Amino acid sequence: MTINEKIKPVILKKICYAKLNHIDTIFEIEKKCFPGTNGYSKNQLLYLISHTNSICLIEKIGKIVRAFLIINYKKNCLLGRIITIDVDPLFQNQGIGLRLLERGEATMKQRGMRWSQLEVSETNKFAIALYKKTGYIFKEKIENYYESMQQGTGDAIRMIKSLY
Ligand SMILES: CC(C)(COP(=O)(O)OP(=O)(O)OC[C@H]1O[C@@H](n2cnc3c(N)ncnc32)[C@H](O)[C@@H]1OP(=O)(O)O)[C@@H](O)C(=O)NCCC(=O)NCCS
Repeated sequence: MTINEKIKPVILKKICYAKLNHIDTIFEIEKKCFPGTNGYSKNQLLYLISHTNSICLIEKIGKIVRAFLIINYKKNCLLGRIITIDVDPLFQNQGIGLRLLERGEATMKQRGMRWSQLEVSETNKFAIALYKKTGYIFKEKIENYYESMQQGTGDAIRMIKSLY
């Protein structure tokens, strides 16, 4: 080894289940993705993460959490719902959202779900592009969806994908 050849540390990227102590980081990412009053509150996220029928996955590089995904489902139901997927804006458009979504779908499948469904603001073109790319198709339009959820105003589209 020459003097210029340094040993590079291996920085591990991984996707794993979130723990309750990740809540602060998850909330920070949510606030960055949805500034103002448009996002979930910390309490809502805590509820979603800790609920028995929820799956929360995080994507990490070393100790830095860069993204999270929350899925909710009913026992013995074939349909799982993607509640949200958020990639820290610093790390967006690098393939993280795609990997996380694919892992989420694989996890749903392992747990017996056969359909993945989600709602997305009809103005969220990057998210819609991601969902279309991974095989989600339009199911229906829901007017004032975010207004009724107190997440700002706007219509949503519901999209669905077969996991068979
Ligand atoms: C939507 C989101 C999850 C995508 O995650 P990401 O890591 O940035 O996306 P990826 O790099 O994995 O890109 C996957 C695909 O998404 C689409 N996409 C994502 N970001 C894009 C951008 N800035 N411009 C154009 N297309 C984009 C493209 O189809 C892309 O595929 P391509 O690179 O082959 O063109 C991320 O942008 C995000 O967290 N946004 C804010 C929160 C949000 O809106 N969540 C969705 C709630 S329903």
